[in-house]
Amino acid sequence: MDKKYKVAIVGATGVVGRTAISILEQKDLPVSKYVFFASKKSAGKIIEFKGKEYEVQELKEDSFDSGFDFAIFSAGGSTSQKFAPIAASKNCVVIDNSSTFRMNENVPLVVPEVNPEEIANHHGIIANPNCSTIQAVVALKPLDDKYNIKRIVYSTYQAVSGAGKMGIDDLENGIKGIAPNKFPHPIFNNCLPHIDVFLDNSYTKEEEKMINETRKILKKPDLRITATAVRVPVFNSHSESINVEFENEFNLYELKKDLSNSPGIIVEDDIENNIYPLATNATGSDSVFVGRIRRDFSVNSGINLWVVADNIRKGAASNAIQIMEYMMKQ
Ligand SMILES: NC(=O)c1ccc[n+]([C@@H]2O[C@H](COP(=O)([O-])OP(=O)(O)OC[C@H]3O[C@@H](n4cnc5c(N)ncnc54)[C@H](OP(=O)(O)O)[C@@H]3O)[C@@H](O)[C@H]2O)c1
Repeated sequence: MDKKYKVAIVGATGVVGRTAISILEQKDLPVSKYVFFASKKSAGKIIEFKGKEYEVQELKEDSFDSGFDFAIFSAGGSTSQKFAPIAASKNCVVIDNSSTFRMNENVPLVVPEVNPEEIANHHGIIANPNCSTIQAVVALKPLDDKYNIKRIVYSTYQAVSGAGKMGIDDLENGIKGIAPNKFPHPIFNNCLPHIDVFLDNSYTKEEEKMINETRKILKKPDLRITATAVRVPVFNSHSESINVEFENEFNLYELKKDLSNSPGIIVEDDIENNIYPLATNATGSDSVFVGRIRRDFSVNSGINLWVVADNIRKGAASNAIQIMEYMMKQ
């Protein structure tokens, strides 16, 4: 008989957790039991899933004693820090959406279209990269393979859903003139060049995550990268301007074909008809949309790209589920 798995969703009441549940609802995975965890505050809440009602459980130290095969964690860094090692010690593979373990040498940082081979190197915890990094590397990997990237300049335009429930509330309330709780300034009618905390070098932690995680995933520890991460008044889906410089020459027509033929990418690049990736069109999709593909005439071999994806789906929930599905198939 084929194996059936037991799966925990940690942070089931949050933006990422609820999206993961709605994605799992559409799938027919070999799972015998799902259990939904959140904080004490949400214990007892009802989640409807595949025609049944499930009571949300409070996450506790003994929650993994009953034996889980997989746990998708989307409950913030401190929850992952405390509970992911406990789950892993009980033979449960943790797929973690927080940044806690991403740069740990013993933790694979995985985007299935880019580096699925890393999954085999796990020691109980697999990290999902930052949402802005995931969509960037899906677009960059096929170009690096063929043209050898030598420098990247990231400028992001990130949706409020990337900051969870509180981020969405700030934009909704801001439209009504109510002061923000999550962001340091009103997000409505503003662009905030400030995501996560500021570091000693004047970058934000979000910018540093994009730089370090891209290097780790592309296996280029010295790759020259700089980033500016900006929160914009968009509810969902992150947009990114990516400037890339290559070692090798390229033909623009060929490069567009390379992107079109790569996994997880939809090229939308028909400027005569005003077609390019849009946040509103990316929302609800698991693909990464790439457009405005054009030569950077200021360098020998470089391009500019506009890359858009649903940050809650491909940037978090879907990527984690893809990893779990990949492992179930192995
Ligand atoms: N939003 C994104 O685009 C995105 C993308 C990539 C990664 N992530 C990461 O995913 C995680 C969740 O993000 P989110 O946007 O879904 O946040 P969110 O909407 O604020 O949800 C947080 C979830 O964590 C739960 N939680 C909080 N403290 C807990 C505890 N002590 N024990 C158990 N559960 C606890 C909450 O439960 P209660 O409802 O009971 O409080 C809720 O289910 C974060 O680590 C975030 O960095 C988010």
